[in-house]
Parts: sequence; C-alpha cells; structure tokens
Amino acid sequence: MRDSTGFDRASDLLRRHTGDTGRPGEFTLLDREWELLDGVFSPTYTPVTGLFTTWLPFPDGGSFLEIGSGTGVTAVVAAQEGCASVTALDLSEEAVENTRRNAARHGAGDRVRVLRSDLFSALGPEERFDLIYWNSNFAEPPEGFVNETDLHHAFFDPGYDAHRRFLREAPARLNPGGRVLLGFSSIGNVELLRALAAESGQKLTLFRSQGREVDTMVIEFQMWELTAE
Ligand SMILES: C[S@@+](CC[C@H](N)C(=O)[O-])C[C@H]1O[C@@H](n2cnc3c(N)ncnc32)[C@H](O)[C@@H]1O
Repeated sequence: MRDSTGFDRASDLLRRHTGDTGRPGEFTLLDREWELLDGVFSPTYTPVTGLFTTWLPFPDGGSFLEIGSGTGVTAVVAAQEGCASVTALDLSEEAVENTRRNAARHGAGDRVRVLRSDLFSALGPEERFDLIYWNSNFAEPPEGFVNETDLHHAFFDPGYDAHRRFLREAPARLNPGGRVLLGFSSIGNVELLRALAAESGQKLTLFRSQGREVDTMVIEFQMWELTAE
C-alpha cells in the first residue's frame, strides 16, 4: 500500500505557506537576512534549506547550477563561497524574483544569473556546470493529483515526472569531473528515485544525511549523488 506520510507532511507545509497571515517578509538563516515573497517556498518551516546549503561542496572558482532556487539562499551562498558563476533556475516567477532580490541584497547580483525555467529548458544547448543541485519537490502525491499553483510545485511531483527528467538530463549538463547532487528526504519515495536513476543508466549514492525531529516526526534529510552505473 502507498505510504501517504510524505504527501500529508507536504500538504501540511503547503497549508502553512498559504494560511499563515503572520508569515514574515524577511527571515534569518545562516547568519544572514533574507527577503521572502508570497508564493515562494519558505526555508523557515523546515531545516532543509540551511542543512543542504551547508553540506554542498561548492566548486571554488567553478560554476554552480541550482534548479529550483526558491528564495535564493543556496545560490547566494554559493556565490559568496567562491563559485565564479552561479545560475539559479526556477519554474516559479515569484521565486525567480525572490532569488534576484536576495542576490542583489547580498551584493551577488553580478555573479548570480536567475532565469525562469522548467528544469534545464532555459539553458543554452552548450551550457555545462561543475556542480548541479536541486532541493527537490520530493513528496509523491496520489495518482491523478494536479499541481494547481506554482507553489504546489515546491512540494509535489506527480508521477515523479520532474525527477525522471532531472535524472535523465542532469548528467549531460556536467563539465568533465562535475557532480550532480539531489536534496531529498525519507518522506520522499527513495525506491522510485533509485528505479528512475537506473532507468537512465545512473546510480544514486548517499552523499550525506542527517535525522532531525521536525513537528513531532523524525525526518532523515538526505543528499544523493548521481553517477553513471
Ligand atoms: C523544496 S523547494 C526548494 C527551494 C530552495 N532551493 C530552498 O532550498 O529553499 C523546490 C523548488 O523547486 C522548484 N521547482 C519545482 N519543479 C521545478 C521545475 N520543473 N523546474 C524548475 N524548478 C522547479 C520550486 O518552484 C521550488 O522553488
């Protein structure tokens, strides 16, 4: 039987995003102040953004591609921590604007290019990167579920269609020696993720993980590395 824990948890998070009238327009994370626009995934309800950002091996002097940049925390930190170029993509127009604002706020506007994009679609055909990363929408909704708003896409991936495309397309976007890392968790469907990676001749290796108690449940936050089988 399908385990609905991840879907229930993500639905609860989505409700908090849309129903929380006291939601701050600013937040503090990783000792920095950030702007938060309505309709954008908030790093304040879960430790995921902060954890993953501190785990990433940003390539010093290299290029970093973030899929789904949200408020832009990870993209900005990548620029501040020595990446020569950062490309931040998001499906959501609000997220694109939010990332642009936070890059400018932190003096990184010249090193962070922000584009609206469905996964890799806005990139030029020849563009390649040293590190590709996505903190993904790992909750698997029930069959027939439709993402009604851009914000739904921050949580749910119906049929794991976006994951399937990411796993298939990311390796071709790497420079020689480059790495693909996927931010995920125990409330996502890891078995399906593995099967989809295998389908495209890739395998997943756990790069790092940590369990955290969040709202009375323990979630294991995981970062998976994608490599050739
Ligand atoms: C879990 S949120 C993470 C946001 C941000 N990186 C963070 O860690 O706070 C997932 C992000 O992926 C974006 N996203 C979902 N599907 C996408 C797609 N097909 N192409 C680009 N971005 C997508 C969402 O809009 C959302 O901003």
